[in-house]
Amino acid sequence: MRDLIEVCAPLILDSISELEISKEDMSNLIGPSTVGSMADIAIPCHSLSRILKKSPVEVSEHISGLISPSLQGLALTSSMNGFVNLKADPEWLASKTMGLLSDNMLGVKKDSPRKIIVDYSAPNVAKEMHVGHLRSTVIGDAIVRMLRFKGHEVIRENHIGDWGTPFGMLIEHLIDLGENSFTSDKAISDFDQFYKEARVKFNHDDLFAERARSRVVLLQAEDSDTLRLWKVLVDVSTAYFNEVYEMLDVLLDDDDIMGESAYRHLLPTVVERLRESGMLEESEGASVVYLGGKWVNREGAPFPVIIRKGDGGYNYSTSDLACIIDRVERISCDELMYVVGTPQKQHFEMVFEVASRAGFMDERHTATHINFGSVLDSNGKMLKSRAGQSAKLVDLLKESIIRADSAISEKNPELTGEDKARISKMIGIGAVKYADLSTDRSKDYIFDWDKMLSFEGNTAPYLQYSHARISRIFSLSPVSRESLRNSNIQLSTVEEEVLAKCIVNFAESLDKSIYSSHPHKLCTHIHATSSAFATFYEACPILKSEDDQIMISRLALCDLTARVISTGLDLLGIMSPEMM
Ligand code: ARG
Repeated sequence: MRDLIEVCAPLILDSISELEISKEDMSNLIGPSTVGSMADIAIPCHSLSRILKKSPVEVSEHISGLISPSLQGLALTSSMNGFVNLKADPEWLASKTMGLLSDNMLGVKKDSPRKIIVDYSAPNVAKEMHVGHLRSTVIGDAIVRMLRFKGHEVIRENHIGDWGTPFGMLIEHLIDLGENSFTSDKAISDFDQFYKEARVKFNHDDLFAERARSRVVLLQAEDSDTLRLWKVLVDVSTAYFNEVYEMLDVLLDDDDIMGESAYRHLLPTVVERLRESGMLEESEGASVVYLGGKWVNREGAPFPVIIRKGDGGYNYSTSDLACIIDRVERISCDELMYVVGTPQKQHFEMVFEVASRAGFMDERHTATHINFGSVLDSNGKMLKSRAGQSAKLVDLLKESIIRADSAISEKNPELTGEDKARISKMIGIGAVKYADLSTDRSKDYIFDWDKMLSFEGNTAPYLQYSHARISRIFSLSPVSRESLRNSNIQLSTVEEEVLAKCIVNFAESLDKSIYSSHPHKLCTHIHATSSAFATFYEACPILKSEDDQIMISRLALCDLTARVISTGLDLLGIMSPEMM
C-alpha cells in the first residue's frame, strides 16, 4: 500500500502541524501495518508519548482525531493500543484498481535504464549439468525477465567452463575413444562417465598424463587441429545445454554463450595490469595477489588470489578478472550480476575486491553475487539420481512432465491429445521452476515431487489452475475481457476489497522482489492473490449476480487477477494455461 502512504503522508503531516513533533520524526513513524487485516498503514505513537507528555493511547486518539478529516475519501482512521490505524477507503481502492484495467504494466513503473549483465547457468563442457546449474538457470532467467520489465537493458552471459588445463586430458581421451563416439547421443548421456574416465587415465597412466600436458600447450598455442577437437567437445556439450534450455523454456541461446575461452586473450592483460598497479607478488613460482585484512587461512596466514600458477596456467579467478575488464570496457555495463551457488561466495568477494583495487571497475559499477543454496532430497542430502551420481537434468525434467500428465488425467480426464501434452509440459516444467523460485534462494530447498506438483498451496499448479479457472469464467461470460478496460469497479464486500488490495500491491511486490533479487517475494504475492481470488470466488457470485453493474465489476476483478497471475508467472518464466 505504498501509494496510499504516499498520498496520506503529506496530509497527515499538515494536520498535526500544531503538535510539537518534527515532520521528520512523524514521517519515520508512518509505515505499512503489520496486522494486514486490521489496517494498511500504522503509526505507532509510543515514542511520541514522552514528547507530548501523554500516554500512547491518548496520543494515538488525539492524532487520529486530528488527521481523520483530511484523509476523507482516502483512508478510514481509528486508534488502538497506542497505534493510529489507517485502512484504505474502498472508494480510493476501487479507483486505484480501475486505473489498472487499461494499464498493461499493472502499475509497475519503469526505472531509469541501466545496462546490466546477468551471468547465469554456466555449466561446464563435457560434464553433466547438475541441479546447481538448474537453480542458476531458473533464478537467473527470472531476474533477467524482471529487470527487462522494469526497463533495463539486460545482457545475458552464459559463462560456460570451456577452457583450462582439464581440456588437455579431455581432448586426449577423445582421441583415444575416437571423435565419433562423442558426437553420438550415447556420449551426451554419458558426460560424467567421459570426464571420470579421462581423470582416471590422467592420474594413473603417466604416458597419458604427458600427452595431456602437451595437449594443453598445443591448445594454448591455438594449434588448429587441437582447436578442432576442442570444438567437438564444446559443440556436443552446448547442443545438450540447449536441449535443457529448450525444455526449461528459458531465454538463453547460443548468442549468450561467453565461456571462459572467450577471455583467453585477455589473461596476459590481467597479469600485466596487476603487475603495473603493484599488486602482483611472486610466491613459490606463482603470481598472486594478497588482499590482506580478513583474507587469511585457518592458520592465520595470508590467503592469496592465484593469478598465474607455477606452470604458467591461469586460474578461474584470472578468467573472472578478465571477464570484468571485458564487461566494463567493451560492453560498458553499469551492473554485473552473478547467479552462482553460495560455495563460490569467497571467490566472488575476492575477485570483486581485486578488480576494484586494480581499477578494473570503479564506484560507477556494482558487482553482485546472487548466491543460492543447494537442492536436497527428502533425507536432507544433496539431490542425486538413482544411480548415485548427480541428478541428470533432462531426466528430472522429463519425469516432471510425466508426473504432471498423470496429475491432469486425474483432475480433468476430458483433456486429451495435443492440448494435454502442451499443458502437461507447462505444468511439469512450471512446477520445477516455481519450487525453486518460491523458496528464499539463499536457503537450501528440498526437492519434493508431491509438493511441487500439488494443486494446493504455494505451487505453480495452484496458480496455473487459478488462471485457468478465470479463463473458464470468461469463456462462459456474455461480456468480453477487452470490453472491460473502462468499466466501473465497486468494492462492496470484504472479499472484493482484499482481492483489490492484492491487485494494487502487485507493482510494489515486484519492486521488492527485483530490488533484492529475491524472486520468492513475487511468488508469495502471486500466491496471496490467488488465495484471495479463491475466497472471493466462494463468497461473491460473478456470472450469477443479479445486478449487471456488479457482474461487470466482478468480471473486471477477475480480469485483473488473471493478469496479475499471468504477468507474475511470465516474469518468473512460467506459462499460464487457458485450461487445465
Ligand atoms: N562454470 C562454473 C561452475 O560450474 C560457474 C561459472 C559462474 N560464472 C562466473 N563468471 N564465474 O561452477
